[in-house]
Amino acid sequence: MTGRPLNPALPENPLLRHAGITVPLICGAMYPCSNPELIAAVSEAGGIGIVQPISLTYVHGYDFREGLRLIRRLTQKPIGMNALIEGTSRIYRERMAGWIETALEEGIRFFITSLGKPDWVVARVHSAGGIVYHDVTERIWAQKGRDGGADGLIAVNNRAGGHAGPLSAKALIETLEEFGLPLICAGGIGTEADFTAALRMGYAGVQMGTRFIATEECRAGAAYKAAILRAKEEDIVLSERITGVPLSVIRTPYIERRGLKAGAVARWMLRGRRTKRVMRAIYALTSLFELKRASLDETGQREYWQAGKSVAGIDRIEPAGAIVRRFAAAIQRPDRPD
Ligand SMILES: Cc1cc2nc3c(=O)[nH]c(=O)nc-3n(C[C@H](O)[C@H](O)[C@H](O)COP(=O)(O)O)c2cc1C
Repeated sequence: MTGRPLNPALPENPLLRHAGITVPLICGAMYPCSNPELIAAVSEAGGIGIVQPISLTYVHGYDFREGLRLIRRLTQKPIGMNALIEGTSRIYRERMAGWIETALEEGIRFFITSLGKPDWVVARVHSAGGIVYHDVTERIWAQKGRDGGADGLIAVNNRAGGHAGPLSAKALIETLEEFGLPLICAGGIGTEADFTAALRMGYAGVQMGTRFIATEECRAGAAYKAAILRAKEEDIVLSERITGVPLSVIRTPYIERRGLKAGAVARWMLRGRRTKRVMRAIYALTSLFELKRASLDETGQREYWQAGKSVAGIDRIEPAGAIVRRFAAAIQRPDRPD
Protein backbone atom coordinates (compact mmCIF):
# COMPACT_ATOMS: atom_id res chain seq x y z
CA MET A 1 0.00 0.00 0.00
CA THR A 2 1.43 3.36 -0.97
CA GLY A 3 0.27 6.79 0.19
CA ARG A 4 1.11 9.04 3.08
CA PRO A 5 3.28 7.77 5.94
CA LEU A 6 1.41 6.33 8.90
CA ASN A 7 3.14 8.54 11.40
CA PRO A 8 2.87 5.98 14.21
CA ALA A 9 3.57 8.24 17.17
CA LEU A 10 1.10 10.74 15.77
CA PRO A 11 2.15 13.48 18.18
CA GLU A 12 0.57 16.18 16.08
CA ASN A 13 -2.49 14.17 15.11
CA PRO A 14 -5.38 16.61 15.61
CA LEU A 15 -7.91 13.97 16.63
CA LEU A 16 -5.66 12.69 19.42
CA ARG A 17 -5.12 16.23 20.62
CA HIS A 18 -8.76 17.27 20.33
CA ALA A 19 -10.20 14.18 22.00
CA GLY A 20 -7.37 13.59 24.50
CA ILE A 21 -6.91 9.98 23.37
CA THR A 22 -4.01 7.75 22.28
CA VAL A 23 -5.47 5.73 19.36
CA PRO A 24 -7.15 7.62 16.48
CA LEU A 25 -10.23 5.42 16.63
CA ILE A 26 -13.79 6.48 17.44
CA CYS A 27 -16.57 4.06 18.30
CA GLY A 28 -19.33 6.01 16.56
CA ALA A 29 -22.71 6.69 18.11
CA MET A 30 -25.14 3.90 17.33
CA TYR A 31 -28.84 3.97 17.88
CA PRO A 32 -29.75 1.43 19.31
CA CYS A 33 -26.39 -0.29 19.83
CA SER A 34 -24.47 2.22 21.99
CA ASN A 35 -24.55 1.00 25.58
CA PRO A 36 -22.40 2.16 28.50
CA GLU A 37 -20.18 -0.93 28.65
CA LEU A 38 -19.25 -0.68 24.96
CA ILE A 39 -18.50 3.04 25.13
CA ALA A 40 -16.37 2.60 28.26
CA ALA A 41 -14.42 -0.36 26.83
CA VAL A 42 -13.37 1.55 23.71
CA SER A 43 -12.31 4.60 25.71
CA GLU A 44 -10.50 2.54 28.32
CA ALA A 45 -8.39 0.96 25.56
CA GLY A 46 -7.29 4.35 24.19
CA GLY A 47 -9.91 5.15 21.52
CA ILE A 48 -13.06 7.13 22.27
CA GLY A 49 -16.59 5.84 22.72
CA ILE A 50 -19.46 8.14 21.79
CA VAL A 51 -22.68 8.32 23.79
CA GLN A 52 -25.93 8.30 21.79
CA PRO A 53 -28.41 9.96 24.18
CA ILE A 54 -31.58 8.29 22.87
CA SER A 55 -29.90 4.90 22.90
CA LEU A 56 -28.67 5.46 26.46
CA THR A 57 -32.06 6.55 27.78
CA TYR A 58 -34.79 4.96 25.65
CA VAL A 59 -33.11 1.69 24.64
CA HIS A 60 -30.90 0.95 27.61
CA GLY A 61 -33.14 2.57 30.21
CA TYR A 62 -30.78 4.93 32.04
CA ASP A 63 -31.49 8.38 33.29
CA PHE A 64 -29.07 10.38 31.09
CA ARG A 65 -26.85 11.67 33.90
CA GLU A 66 -26.84 8.32 35.71
CA GLY A 67 -25.85 6.59 32.45
CA LEU A 68 -22.90 8.97 32.05
CA ARG A 69 -21.87 8.34 35.64
CA LEU A 70 -22.00 4.60 35.09
CA ILE A 71 -19.62 5.00 32.12
CA ARG A 72 -17.39 7.13 34.35
CA ARG A 73 -17.23 4.35 36.93
CA LEU A 74 -16.05 2.00 34.15
CA THR A 75 -13.42 4.35 32.74
CA GLN A 76 -11.80 7.64 33.65
CA LYS A 77 -10.68 8.21 30.05
CA PRO A 78 -12.41 10.68 27.69
CA ILE A 79 -15.78 9.82 26.17
CA GLY A 80 -17.80 11.79 23.64
CA MET A 81 -21.43 12.56 22.89
CA ASN A 82 -23.43 12.56 19.66
CA ALA A 83 -25.89 15.39 19.08
CA LEU A 84 -28.29 14.70 16.24
CA ILE A 85 -29.46 18.23 15.52
CA GLU A 86 -32.34 18.33 13.13
CA GLY A 87 -34.08 21.66 13.03
CA THR A 88 -37.77 20.84 12.84
CA SER A 89 -38.89 20.10 16.40
CA ARG A 90 -38.50 22.68 19.15
CA ILE A 91 -39.17 20.10 21.86
CA TYR A 92 -36.45 17.82 20.51
CA ARG A 93 -33.96 20.68 20.27
CA GLU A 94 -34.65 21.70 23.88
CA ARG A 95 -34.17 18.11 24.98
CA MET A 96 -30.87 17.92 23.06
CA ALA A 97 -29.68 21.24 24.53
CA GLY A 98 -30.40 19.81 27.99
CA TRP A 99 -28.43 16.66 27.25
CA ILE A 100 -25.49 18.77 26.06
CA GLU A 101 -25.56 20.79 29.31
CA THR A 102 -25.62 17.61 31.38
CA ALA A 103 -22.78 16.12 29.35
CA LEU A 104 -20.67 19.25 29.90
CA GLU A 105 -21.44 19.16 33.63
CA GLU A 106 -20.32 15.53 33.68
CA GLY A 107 -17.00 16.42 32.05
CA ILE A 108 -17.58 15.49 28.39
CA ARG A 109 -15.60 17.77 26.06
CA PHE A 110 -15.80 15.96 22.71
CA PHE A 111 -19.02 16.19 20.69
CA ILE A 112 -20.07 14.90 17.30
CA THR A 113 -22.99 16.66 15.64
CA SER A 114 -25.01 15.12 12.82
CA LEU A 115 -27.46 16.79 10.42
CA GLY A 116 -28.34 20.47 10.56
CA LYS A 117 -26.07 23.41 11.26
CA PRO A 118 -23.94 22.90 14.36
CA ASP A 119 -23.34 26.59 15.22
CA TRP A 120 -25.34 26.63 18.48
CA VAL A 121 -23.69 23.43 19.72
CA VAL A 122 -20.25 24.75 18.75
CA ALA A 123 -20.85 28.05 20.58
CA ARG A 124 -21.87 26.30 23.79
CA VAL A 125 -19.19 23.59 23.67
CA HIS A 126 -16.37 25.99 22.76
CA SER A 127 -17.34 28.25 25.65
CA ALA A 128 -16.71 25.26 27.92
CA GLY A 129 -13.36 24.51 26.25
CA GLY A 130 -14.67 21.55 24.24
CA ILE A 131 -14.43 20.37 20.65
CA VAL A 132 -17.08 19.61 18.02
CA TYR A 133 -16.70 17.39 14.97
CA HIS A 134 -19.52 17.36 12.43
CA ASP A 135 -20.76 14.30 10.49
CA VAL A 136 -20.97 14.91 6.74
CA THR A 137 -21.64 12.86 3.62
CA GLU A 138 -21.06 15.55 0.99
CA ARG A 139 -19.40 18.90 0.40
CA ILE A 140 -22.57 20.93 1.00
CA TRP A 141 -22.91 19.58 4.58
CA ALA A 142 -19.20 20.11 5.21
CA GLN A 143 -19.66 23.74 4.26
CA LYS A 144 -22.42 24.01 6.88
CA GLY A 145 -20.18 22.35 9.44
CA ARG A 146 -17.26 24.65 8.69
CA ASP A 147 -19.49 27.75 8.66
CA GLY A 148 -20.96 26.58 11.95
CA GLY A 149 -17.47 26.52 13.48
CA ALA A 150 -16.85 22.74 13.66
CA ASP A 151 -13.30 21.72 14.59
CA GLY A 152 -13.27 18.60 12.42
CA LEU A 153 -15.38 16.60 9.98
CA ILE A 154 -16.47 12.98 10.15
CA ALA A 155 -16.60 11.92 6.50
CA VAL A 156 -19.32 9.28 6.21
CA ASN A 157 -18.79 7.29 3.01
CA ASN A 158 -20.79 4.89 0.87
CA ARG A 159 -19.71 1.79 2.84
CA ALA A 160 -20.93 3.01 6.22
CA GLY A 161 -23.48 1.43 8.51
CA GLY A 162 -26.35 3.72 9.51
CA HIS A 163 -27.10 6.48 6.99
CA ALA A 164 -24.43 5.95 4.35
CA GLY A 165 -23.32 8.71 1.99
CA PRO A 166 -22.99 8.63 -1.80
CA LEU A 167 -19.18 8.95 -2.08
CA SER A 168 -16.23 6.61 -1.57
CA ALA A 169 -13.66 7.31 1.16
CA LYS A 170 -11.20 8.49 -1.48
CA ALA A 171 -13.66 10.76 -3.28
CA LEU A 172 -14.76 12.25 0.04
CA ILE A 173 -11.28 13.12 1.22
CA GLU A 174 -10.53 14.76 -2.10
CA THR A 175 -13.75 16.77 -1.86
CA LEU A 176 -13.31 17.80 1.76
CA GLU A 177 -9.59 18.54 1.99
CA GLU A 178 -10.11 22.14 0.90
CA PHE A 179 -11.83 22.93 4.23
CA GLY A 180 -8.53 22.47 6.04
CA LEU A 181 -10.16 20.63 8.95
CA PRO A 182 -9.14 17.24 10.39
CA LEU A 183 -11.02 14.52 8.51
CA ILE A 184 -12.16 11.23 10.04
CA CYS A 185 -13.05 8.27 7.82
CA ALA A 186 -16.40 6.67 8.71
CA GLY A 187 -17.56 3.61 6.85
CA GLY A 188 -16.25 0.25 5.76
CA ILE A 189 -13.46 -0.10 8.31
CA GLY A 190 -13.46 -3.60 9.77
CA THR A 191 -9.83 -4.70 9.82
CA GLU A 192 -6.43 -3.29 10.69
CA ALA A 193 -5.62 -3.14 6.99
CA ASP A 194 -8.72 -0.96 6.36
CA PHE A 195 -7.64 1.24 9.27
CA THR A 196 -4.06 1.78 8.12
CA ALA A 197 -5.25 2.32 4.53
CA ALA A 198 -7.56 5.14 5.70
CA LEU A 199 -4.72 6.79 7.65
CA ARG A 200 -2.43 6.49 4.66
CA MET A 201 -5.08 8.15 2.52
CA GLY A 202 -4.67 11.19 4.77
CA TYR A 203 -7.47 10.75 7.29
CA ALA A 204 -6.57 11.76 10.86
CA GLY A 205 -8.53 8.84 12.28
CA VAL A 206 -11.46 6.52 11.71
CA GLN A 207 -14.93 6.13 13.13
CA MET A 208 -16.30 2.58 13.27
CA GLY A 209 -19.76 1.31 14.08
CA THR A 210 -20.51 -2.14 12.68
CA ARG A 211 -17.23 -3.73 13.91
CA PHE A 212 -18.10 -2.74 17.49
CA ILE A 213 -21.53 -4.39 17.41
CA ALA A 214 -19.80 -7.78 17.16
CA THR A 215 -18.19 -7.36 20.59
CA GLU A 216 -18.72 -8.87 23.99
CA GLU A 217 -19.72 -5.54 25.51
CA CYS A 218 -22.36 -4.55 22.96
CA ARG A 219 -25.81 -5.49 24.24
CA ALA A 220 -27.29 -6.19 20.81
CA GLY A 221 -28.93 -9.62 20.65
CA ALA A 222 -26.99 -12.77 19.76
CA ALA A 223 -28.96 -13.23 16.51
CA TYR A 224 -27.95 -9.72 15.35
CA LYS A 225 -24.27 -10.32 16.13
CA ALA A 226 -24.34 -13.72 14.40
CA ALA A 227 -25.88 -12.09 11.31
CA ILE A 228 -22.95 -9.61 11.18
CA LEU A 229 -20.44 -12.46 11.31
CA ARG A 230 -22.31 -14.35 8.56
CA ALA A 231 -22.96 -11.40 6.24
CA LYS A 232 -20.93 -10.68 3.16
CA GLU A 233 -20.52 -7.28 1.59
CA GLU A 234 -23.22 -7.98 -1.00
CA ASP A 235 -25.72 -8.75 1.78
CA ILE A 236 -25.74 -5.07 2.80
CA VAL A 237 -28.60 -3.17 1.16
CA LEU A 238 -30.07 0.30 1.53
CA SER A 239 -33.62 0.43 2.88
CA GLU A 240 -35.88 3.48 2.89
CA ARG A 241 -38.57 1.70 4.87
CA ILE A 242 -37.15 2.45 8.29
CA THR A 243 -36.32 6.15 8.48
CA GLY A 244 -37.45 7.41 5.07
CA VAL A 245 -33.87 7.90 3.88
CA PRO A 246 -31.55 5.07 2.81
CA LEU A 247 -30.25 3.11 5.78
CA SER A 248 -27.69 0.28 5.49
CA VAL A 249 -29.15 -2.99 6.71
CA ILE A 250 -28.44 -6.70 6.34
CA ARG A 251 -30.66 -8.28 3.69
CA THR A 252 -32.76 -10.83 5.57
CA PRO A 253 -36.05 -12.54 4.66
CA TYR A 254 -37.82 -9.96 6.88
CA ILE A 255 -36.21 -7.04 5.00
CA GLU A 256 -37.09 -8.66 1.67
CA ARG A 257 -40.71 -9.13 2.72
CA ARG A 258 -40.99 -5.46 3.67
CA GLY A 259 -39.27 -4.17 0.53
CA LEU A 260 -36.57 -1.52 0.32
CA LYS A 261 -38.50 1.45 -1.03
CA ALA A 262 -40.74 3.78 0.95
CA GLY A 263 -44.45 2.96 0.49
CA ALA A 264 -46.67 4.95 -1.90
CA VAL A 265 -48.37 7.00 0.86
CA ALA A 266 -45.05 7.83 2.48
CA ARG A 267 -43.56 8.88 -0.85
CA TRP A 268 -46.55 11.10 -1.53
CA MET A 269 -46.30 12.68 1.93
CA LEU A 270 -42.56 13.25 1.59
CA ARG A 271 -43.22 15.32 -1.53
CA GLY A 272 -45.47 17.90 0.17
CA ARG A 273 -43.94 20.76 2.17
CA ARG A 274 -46.24 20.34 5.21
CA THR A 275 -46.89 16.61 4.95
CA LYS A 276 -43.14 16.03 4.73
CA ARG A 277 -42.71 17.15 8.34
CA VAL A 278 -45.50 14.89 9.52
CA MET A 279 -44.05 11.94 7.62
CA ARG A 280 -40.58 12.58 8.99
CA ALA A 281 -41.96 12.66 12.54
CA ILE A 282 -43.81 9.37 11.92
CA TYR A 283 -40.62 7.82 10.58
CA ALA A 284 -38.58 9.12 13.51
CA LEU A 285 -40.92 7.65 16.11
CA THR A 286 -41.62 4.32 14.43
CA SER A 287 -37.96 3.74 13.56
CA LEU A 288 -36.88 4.38 17.15
CA PHE A 289 -39.36 1.76 18.30
CA GLU A 290 -38.68 -0.81 15.58
CA LEU A 291 -34.90 -0.60 15.73
CA LYS A 292 -34.93 -0.89 19.52
CA ARG A 293 -37.16 -3.97 19.42
CA ALA A 294 -35.13 -5.64 16.67
CA SER A 295 -31.74 -5.03 18.25
CA LEU A 296 -32.65 -6.49 21.64
CA ASP A 297 -34.73 -9.36 20.23
CA GLU A 298 -33.27 -12.78 21.06
CA THR A 299 -35.71 -14.82 18.95
CA GLY A 300 -34.32 -13.75 15.57
CA GLN A 301 -37.89 -12.97 14.41
CA ARG A 302 -37.31 -9.28 13.81
CA GLU A 303 -34.39 -9.19 11.47
CA TYR A 304 -34.13 -5.42 11.15
CA TRP A 305 -30.42 -5.14 11.57
CA GLN A 306 -28.31 -2.14 10.62
CA ALA A 307 -24.76 -2.83 9.42
CA GLY A 308 -22.29 -1.52 6.87
CA LYS A 309 -20.09 -3.17 4.29
CA SER A 310 -17.29 -3.67 6.83
CA VAL A 311 -19.13 -6.92 7.70
CA ALA A 312 -16.83 -8.45 5.07
CA GLY A 313 -13.85 -8.27 7.46
CA ILE A 314 -15.66 -9.22 10.69
CA ASP A 315 -15.36 -12.89 11.61
CA ARG A 316 -15.55 -13.06 15.39
CA ILE A 317 -17.05 -11.54 18.50
CA GLU A 318 -14.29 -10.16 20.67
CA PRO A 319 -13.82 -7.67 23.50
CA ALA A 320 -14.03 -4.08 22.21
CA GLY A 321 -10.73 -3.23 23.91
CA ALA A 322 -8.98 -6.04 22.02
CA ILE A 323 -10.04 -4.46 18.72
CA VAL A 324 -8.68 -1.06 19.77
CA ARG A 325 -5.39 -2.63 20.89
CA ARG A 326 -5.08 -4.64 17.66
CA PHE A 327 -5.61 -1.50 15.60
CA ALA A 328 -3.18 0.47 17.77
CA ALA A 329 -0.54 -2.21 17.24
CA ALA A 330 -1.04 -1.96 13.47
CA ILE A 331 0.07 1.67 13.44
CA GLN A 332 3.08 0.90 15.58
CA ARG A 333 4.35 -1.18 12.64
CA PRO A 334 4.35 1.43 9.88
CA ASP A 335 6.31 -0.70 7.42
CA ARG A 336 3.96 -3.61 7.67
CA PRO A 337 2.67 -4.54 4.22
CA ASP A 338 -1.15 -4.28 4.11
C1 LIG B 1 -26.39 0.22 14.10
C2 LIG B 1 -25.88 1.58 13.75
C3 LIG B 1 -26.49 2.70 14.31
C4 LIG B 1 -26.01 3.99 14.06
N1 LIG B 1 -26.60 5.06 14.67
C5 LIG B 1 -26.06 6.29 14.52
C6 LIG B 1 -26.57 7.40 15.26
O1 LIG B 1 -27.50 7.26 16.04
N2 LIG B 1 -26.01 8.62 15.08
C7 LIG B 1 -24.96 8.79 14.22
O2 LIG B 1 -24.47 9.92 14.08
N3 LIG B 1 -24.43 7.76 13.52
C8 LIG B 1 -24.95 6.51 13.66
N4 LIG B 1 -24.39 5.44 13.00
C9 LIG B 1 -23.16 5.64 12.20
C10 LIG B 1 -21.90 5.30 13.02
O3 LIG B 1 -21.69 6.23 14.05
C11 LIG B 1 -20.64 5.26 12.11
O4 LIG B 1 -20.43 6.49 11.47
C12 LIG B 1 -20.75 4.17 11.06
O5 LIG B 1 -21.22 2.99 11.65
C13 LIG B 1 -19.43 3.90 10.39
O6 LIG B 1 -19.56 2.87 9.45
P1 LIG B 1 -19.27 1.31 9.77
O7 LIG B 1 -20.53 0.79 10.37
O8 LIG B 1 -19.00 0.75 8.43
O9 LIG B 1 -18.11 1.21 10.69
C14 LIG B 1 -24.89 4.15 13.21
C15 LIG B 1 -24.28 3.01 12.63
C16 LIG B 1 -24.75 1.74 12.91
C17 LIG B 1 -24.06 0.55 12.30
